[in-house]
Amino acid sequence: MSGLPAAAEVLDGIDLTGRTALVTGGYSGIGIEVVRALAGAGAQVLAPARRPDKAASVLAGAVSTGAGGVEVGALDLADQDSVATYAESVLAAGRSLDIVINSAGVMACPETRVADGWELQLATNHLGHYALVNRLWPAIGAGARVVSVSSTGHHLSDFRWDDPWFEDGYDKWLAYGQSKTANVLFAVHLDALAREQGVRAFSLHPGAILTPLGRHLQAEDLDAVMTLDEDGKPVLPDFRSPEQGAATAVWAATSPELDGRGGDYLEDCAIAEVVPDGPQTTYGVRGYALDPDAAARLWTWSAEVTGVDALR
Ligand SMILES: NC(=O)c1ccc[n+]([C@@H]2O[C@H](COP(=O)([O-])OP(=O)(O)OC[C@H]3O[C@@H](n4cnc5c(N)ncnc54)[C@H](OP(=O)(O)O)[C@@H]3O)[C@@H](O)[C@H]2O)c1
Repeated sequence: MSGLPAAAEVLDGIDLTGRTALVTGGYSGIGIEVVRALAGAGAQVLAPARRPDKAASVLAGAVSTGAGGVEVGALDLADQDSVATYAESVLAAGRSLDIVINSAGVMACPETRVADGWELQLATNHLGHYALVNRLWPAIGAGARVVSVSSTGHHLSDFRWDDPWFEDGYDKWLAYGQSKTANVLFAVHLDALAREQGVRAFSLHPGAILTPLGRHLQAEDLDAVMTLDEDGKPVLPDFRSPEQGAATAVWAATSPELDGRGGDYLEDCAIAEVVPDGPQTTYGVRGYALDPDAAARLWTWSAEVTGVDALR
């Protein structure tokens, strides 16, 4: 994957001095490269983390002198009280956000319940970010972009309206797929609600990158991460570097090529094509993830579940 740009190359010539970005998951994997690139272009970056001490020590060595500053805060996306407390601290400090990149996530973890029995992947990957953006809404001004890091993993499952919490039996891959479909639908409806106020939303697949995201994978999960080559033979994905994995996120957040657009699902610094339902592929977006009615329904459901809706 040597031909793909790194995040810093995408930002070449873009000056983010005076702009503020918030990046979840900004001290690991793709997120830390997003933070490094945005700060390197001059942005002030808020990097909330559920392990703030770890985040502070990692980021202290990651962002070069002369770049914009990075501020760590405490945020556990699986805990709605923590989301509320963190968002209140941002609002109380009078911050104004130009970029929000929702990169934090968990994948294929063992069945774990939080709050009132919420399944962890949906709670973290979707509902935590849904509530965070809504609670931060007063700080997200005209011209801002909100970017959700989804995955081709969304091909694994549409939103499961009849059993979103897997009360009828847990499947870690369907749970990841559902949460990643929710990331795409969230961007679709956020964009529909917010575009009149000048805020645009996007979702994306960053590519396949070896990061701690795979910490829960077992030997038997190899099949789930394999892809098919042109002869239909299972092969490992064409892994890219974390710097390349961060490229589409910073492109979504800053590229003038996306001016006037929103709600799109992106990959490889471009708008992805819609692909038909069927086995998971390494590219493309499923129609069900872009469906505006499903996106509106998910927003209403998320508002009911979390009790938060800043854009009603
Ligand atoms: N890597 C890939 O190949 C790939 C492919 C497609 C999509 N993605 C997506 O890319 C995003 C970033 O993944 P990555 O590869 O960079 O993974 P990563 O290195 O594991 O980073 C994920 C980050 O999310 C944070 N996080 C997890 N649960 C959290 C919670 N409850 N509250 C706050 N933060 C939490 C983690 O913090 P801790 O360190 O404290 O756990 C970590 O900083 C994910 O949304 C993933 O679905 C990745």
